[in-house]
Amino acid sequence: MAAHIHILGISGSLRRGSFNTALLRNAQAMLPEDVSLEIADLSGIPLFNQDHEHEPPEAVRAFKAKIAGADALLFAVPEYNYSIPGVLKNAIDWASRPYNEQPFNGKPAAIMGAGGRFGTVRAQLHFRQIASYLNLLVLPRPELMVPLAHQKFDADGVLTDQDARDQLKAVVNALVEWTRRLG
Ligand SMILES: Cc1cc2nc3c(=O)[nH]c(=O)nc-3n(C[C@H](O)[C@H](O)[C@H](O)COP(=O)(O)O)c2cc1C
Repeated sequence: MAAHIHILGISGSLRRGSFNTALLRNAQAMLPEDVSLEIADLSGIPLFNQDHEHEPPEAVRAFKAKIAGADALLFAVPEYNYSIPGVLKNAIDWASRPYNEQPFNGKPAAIMGAGGRFGTVRAQLHFRQIASYLNLLVLPRPELMVPLAHQKFDADGVLTDQDARDQLKAVVNALVEWTRRLG
């Protein structure tokens, strides 16, 4: 494992004011030394069609290449109808095909989420089920759920809640340690 660790952040929301994308941006501002965090752009990924899994669209190729090139993945997962958003599932479905060359295999990852009263707990559990099929090596703990997210960020997307900031930093540091340990 190289000294430098490159993390790819993947948000399940395309919304301009997304709290989940904001979590990733806040993480970018609290990285340890020798760690970088790039946020993937899922907005150009079309709906999955298995007819094209061997010749995927350019946006999918680019997404798969970013996953393959990352040392670790950090997922920020909103909760939609007690599960993960279709945008994220669709992107994962594309990237997971063909299965024998899918880039999630053995990749260290962590998950977090910001949302309503329960802070995405149900979506995160669903995500862990998906991740087990992909053979993603998801950090068991610490967990980060940001409940009542609309009260925890300012108008510029800065996470203002100190507990949440401490937990976010703990997740990032634990992911880096997990990645070094697995490397
Ligand atoms: C289609 C849809 C379904 C949602 N379902 C849930 C839900 O099941 N549980 C929950 O706590 N919040 C739910 N919400 C609220 C979202 O979690 C909340 O809007 C969150 O801020 C979305 O993430 P974002 O800010 O990153 O876009 C839902 C929102 C949408 C648009």
